[in-house]
Amino acid sequence: MKIATAIQYFKLALRMKVYRHPFTNFRIGLHFLLIRINILLKTKKLTISPPNIVFSLTSRCNKTCDFCHYITELNSPEHKEDELSYDSFVEILDSEGCPSVGRICLYGGEPLLNKDFFKILAEAKKRKFLTSIVTNGLLITKYKSELQESNLDLMTVSYYPEDVEKIKPSLVNISKYIPINLSYVVSNNRIDEIEKFLIYARDINAAMVTIENLRENGITSEESLKENEQLKSQRVHLTENYSKHFILRWSGFNKIDTVNLKTSCVDFWDTIFVNAKGQISPCCQYPLNSYFGDIKKKSSSVNSLEMLKLRDQISSNQAPKNCEGCHYLYAKDPLYKS
Ligand SMILES: C[S@@+](CC[C@H](N)C(=O)[O-])C[C@H]1O[C@@H](n2cnc3c(N)ncnc32)[C@H](O)[C@@H]1O
Ligand code: SF4
Repeated sequence: MKIATAIQYFKLALRMKVYRHPFTNFRIGLHFLLIRINILLKTKKLTISPPNIVFSLTSRCNKTCDFCHYITELNSPEHKEDELSYDSFVEILDSEGCPSVGRICLYGGEPLLNKDFFKILAEAKKRKFLTSIVTNGLLITKYKSELQESNLDLMTVSYYPEDVEKIKPSLVNISKYIPINLSYVVSNNRIDEIEKFLIYARDINAAMVTIENLRENGITSEESLKENEQLKSQRVHLTENYSKHFILRWSGFNKIDTVNLKTSCVDFWDTIFVNAKGQISPCCQYPLNSYFGDIKKKSSSVNSLEMLKLRDQISSNQAPKNCEGCHYLYAKDPLYKS
């Protein structure tokens, strides 16, 4: 890592006020280190829970993005009851399957549609978790005062060109008290928008910017980014021009040839997705109807037969079925989940 980037991360850590709870944050660091060791040793059965817990607060959404992993499932009758309540959240945090320190990301569907959102966030903060949200931003104006008081550590806002102008004033304001990670899912036919996106990120004072490769999910007709020379040089030029304004993170390009590539995704060790029923999934790319087990018990969640098999597959260089089309599978990715 370059010194300038290290300084940017240091400043972000200060904005996230990690110094407020030095002992807890030291424990979180240690937890990540232990998981790293488990990854290096290719351990199948974990003795500690993954430190990143992503809660899917709702399967409802106020948008219908045609590239979305969940587009056929969101707002469907089958999933309309998928709403995590504050009481269930507390029950999960108190259980043996959930780590007592780590990072909690509030996800969806659109997480701000969950009526208990701010109570859930306050509980996670009370327990000294590092907290983040991934949102399409459509409700941030409505909830601007609640957000201002929330002490949320990081807010990932997805950049959707059709909405960004109307939420710009709110983002400029929110970025004064919550560090913003602006994220853009790019496909092969949306490369031209990248520079506009970076200018927007600079205008709203984003602390971090993520250029995420589209994961082909069998639903979208778009193609993910493929390694090509024109894109590579554009990436170099854009990085030079914009990385002084924010931490600039590019996800890997999909490799054209996947034969003989090594699988290197670490998600099955360090992250767990939890839905409203307390069931789990190893990744955001997996469909909502594939969640299984019970987060509250290690034996039926992080150390369930399904998870042991997935860790075994990745360790022995096989691609699980639901991972097809994902660039994280083969890329040593610079992205750090937010
Ligand atoms: C599923 S959405 C949920 C949170 C919120 N509704 C939003 O759009 O930010 C979380 C993130 O996944 C991204 N995403 C959805 N489908 C994707 C796909 N096929 N490939 C890559 N990222 C995707 C979205 O753009 C968003 O940044
Ligand atoms: S990407 Fe986010 S905003 Fe778009 S449909 Fe999916 S969950 Fe909703």
